[in-house]
Amino acid sequence: MLVILEDDDRSLSRDAARIVAKTVRSQSHVILGLATGSTPIGMYRELVRLHQEEKLDFSHVVTFNLDEYIGLRPNHPQSYHAYMARHFFDHVNVSRENIHIPDGSIRTSYTDYCAWYEACIRQAGGIDIQVLGIGKEGHIGFNESSSSLSSRTRPKVLAIQTVKDNRRFFEPHEDVPDCAITMGLGTILDARRILLLASGAHKAKAVAAAVEGPVAASVTASVLQFHSHVTVLVDQDAAAELRRISDYRRVMEITRKTNPDRLW
Ligand code: PGA
Repeated sequence: MLVILEDDDRSLSRDAARIVAKTVRSQSHVILGLATGSTPIGMYRELVRLHQEEKLDFSHVVTFNLDEYIGLRPNHPQSYHAYMARHFFDHVNVSRENIHIPDGSIRTSYTDYCAWYEACIRQAGGIDIQVLGIGKEGHIGFNESSSSLSSRTRPKVLAIQTVKDNRRFFEPHEDVPDCAITMGLGTILDARRILLLASGAHKAKAVAAAVEGPVAASVTASVLQFHSHVTVLVDQDAAAELRRISDYRRVMEITRKTNPDRLW
C-alpha cells in the first residue's frame, strides 16, 4: 500500500482527481469504479472542473458504482443515483448507457440481479480504478464488519453504526434504509487499482486499523492489504493514529524522485 499524506481535504480531493484524470486521459477505454458519501465530493468537484475548464473527456468512460440503498426510489435525494447525478454525471460527458449503479428496487430474490451486475463489470473489461471511502468502523462499500473477505455483489443488512451515521442525511420523519446492494470485497479486489480516500479525525481509527492492523473481517478495508496496487490518500486528521507516518513520508519523497508514475 502506498500511503500519501495530504495537508487537508482540499489537496486530497485534488490529488484523487488527478489520479483518476490521468487514467481517463491515458486509455482509450476506461472503467471507473465509483463511490458515494461525503469523502469523494471534493474529488468529483475537481473532476467536473477539469472537464469544464480543461476539456477532460469522459466519453470513453464506463462507470460502476459500489452500492445503492434498497428501497429508495432513484430520484430520492439520498439515493446514490441522485447523489451521482448531483455531484458528477449531470456535469460531465459520461454517456448515460455507460453508467451502472446497483438498482435498489425491492425484490423477492437478489441472486440473478447481483450476478448480472458482476457479469456487466466482467464484460466491460474489469475495473481500472476503484475509488473507495472508508466507514468509521472500517467498512468499504457497504461491506460491514464480518463480511466475507471474498464476497461478491449482494444485498447486505447495514450495521447499527452505519444507520446512525446516515441518519443525518434523512428527514426526521423518514426511515433510514436498513439494507443495501453492494459490490463485495472480492469484487473490489478484482479492480486493477484501488484508491482509498479518508479525511477527518472520525476516520483515524479505521484508517490505522485498515493500513497497519491485521487483515480481519471486523475491519473490512484491511483486506486491501492483499491487493497489489493500492493508494491510500489521507488528510492529517485521518492520519492521526497511523504509527509509521515518518516511513510513509520518506517513501513518498523517495518515490516522487525515483518512480513518480507510482504516485499518480
Ligand atoms: P463518508 O462515508 O465518506 O460519508 O464518510 C464513507 C463510507 O461509509 O464508505
